[in-house]
Amino acid sequence: MMNNVFDEIGRTKLIAVVRVDDADTAVEAALAIAEGGITAIEIPATVDQFDRAIRRLSLHGGLAVGAATLFSESDASKAVEAGASFLVSPIFVDEVWDVSLDSDAQYLPGAATPGEIYSIMEGGFEPIKVFPAECLGGPKYIKSLLAILPDAKLIPTGGISSANAREYIDAGAFAVGVGGSLLPKGLLEARDFKAITHLAFGLRASISE
Ligand code: 3PG
Repeated sequence: MMNNVFDEIGRTKLIAVVRVDDADTAVEAALAIAEGGITAIEIPATVDQFDRAIRRLSLHGGLAVGAATLFSESDASKAVEAGASFLVSPIFVDEVWDVSLDSDAQYLPGAATPGEIYSIMEGGFEPIKVFPAECLGGPKYIKSLLAILPDAKLIPTGGISSANAREYIDAGAFAVGVGGSLLPKGLLEARDFKAITHLAFGLRASISE
């Protein structure tokens, strides 16, 4: 059974993964992306002081703020204390699931193969992140997975941009996760957050065309 965070993500079909160097940049970039209409945001634990970014973003109404790249109990706990409403890993991590069970945050585990996805579905989890989606075969891979596991709610992530996001949705993805294509290095270096807002708009437009 899905909770409201994932229901909402299923409606908007997009999650932005804000993998930047530091918390201040993460907050500015996330708000710029939200300004462009993408309101589900993941802050990876690789961001310096990622929990500080989550705390600040959680204070903004209307955003679903999650933590990503979680492999440990300690990072997952920090994320929950900071107010994350969902916890994401690229694989299934028992410790992260345990933290989610003791909190209001929902767990979004990741998988790559049909076997991994099946096991996670059997555990009652939905949706499931599929990573790294482009490397695994892109929209065709998602379509093949859904042919054998039609009830899977898949969120392909990795290598997705406004050039291919629509193909993933057409292939049956529940939503897509998008990181680097929303956050080009040059724009971050120039601190051109307006341009990042435009990229977010463009991505949204690309899937609703
Ligand atoms: C990440 O690892 O940051 C996410 O999976 C997003 O990947 P992307 O930068 O290739 O979109």
